[in-house]
Amino acid sequence: MNAIEIRGLSKRFGSKQAVDGLHMTVPEGAIYGFIGEDGSGKSTTEKMICGLLHPTSGSISLYGKDHNDDEIRSHIGVLIEAPGCVPDCSVWNNMMIQAANLEIKDPEQEIAKVLKTVRMEGAASNKFKNCSLGMKQHIGIAMALLGNPRLLVLDEPINGLDADGMRIMREVLTDITKQGCTVLISSHILGELEKIATHYGIIRHGRMIREMTAEELEADCPTYIALRTGEGSKIKLLLKGRYGRVEEEEDGTIRIYDDVKPEDVVAWLYEKGVTVSEIWTAKIGLEEYYIDLMGGKKQ
Ligand SMILES: Nc1ncnc2c1ncn2[C@@H]1O[C@H](COP(=O)(O)OP(=O)(O)O)[C@@H](O)[C@H]1O
Ligand SMILES: [Mg+2]
Repeated sequence: MNAIEIRGLSKRFGSKQAVDGLHMTVPEGAIYGFIGEDGSGKSTTEKMICGLLHPTSGSISLYGKDHNDDEIRSHIGVLIEAPGCVPDCSVWNNMMIQAANLEIKDPEQEIAKVLKTVRMEGAASNKFKNCSLGMKQHIGIAMALLGNPRLLVLDEPINGLDADGMRIMREVLTDITKQGCTVLISSHILGELEKIATHYGIIRHGRMIREMTAEELEADCPTYIALRTGEGSKIKLLLKGRYGRVEEEEDGTIRIYDDVKPEDVVAWLYEKGVTVSEIWTAKIGLEEYYIDLMGGKKQ
């Protein structure tokens, strides 16, 4: 079953068409990376999924039910923008307030569980306002996890995290999906997203321009040999005479996309009197794939 199925979804704010006939399919158990440049409609889409905004038209179904269904709505955890916490209250008391709102039966036990899940059990007595940005992001996720949601909707949750914070967030999200929760996560930090996402959706001007699994992305991303010679562009011409697809990057690195062995390239260039100073194999990643798809312009 799909956790989210969106068909022909649109949202207009006055004359601004923020979301425009969007289709989206998020399978159950996925970590779905939702990607698009600023203003492309990610937050608006997520808000409609969570019932925070009403669509102008189109349908959203969650686990086969209309997204307005009260029962299904109670199974969705949300972190869009900052968590709604009282700055002067402790993390624990903020969680208690949220648990009361959600009418959770065993709040102490449940709060201890979700704080442990996000590695924040040591921060329970801290005042919320004294928490670092990374801690606040994790606490926001803990809040969203109260009530044991089947679907977690996160808007840019790794913005502003340091390397360690990102690593913990990765582990947390992977753990959550192991517990049976589906995660929809928007982010423009593609290198991080690529480490955890099982599916991707790329949105532009409010329309879904591509949806794919991590395996499809992997298959679409070619491997290549990269090399440096210190001899500039003439090497590219030389290599172009022998190989099918040869490109030069801005820093002078040459890429060969043909299925060849690095040692054969080195030997052949050596015969031509060219010494290779560095050579390695690499693979196009999500970031480069995305930039190419957007027409070569970084967002
Ligand atoms: N409440 C609003 N009123 C008017 N325009 C809005 C509102 N919310 C979003 N928009 C506009 O809709 C477009 C999509 O915004 P948003 O969904 O926030 O994009 P993203 O999250 O991908 O950056 C933007 O042009 C934004 O300015
Ligand atoms: Mg946004």
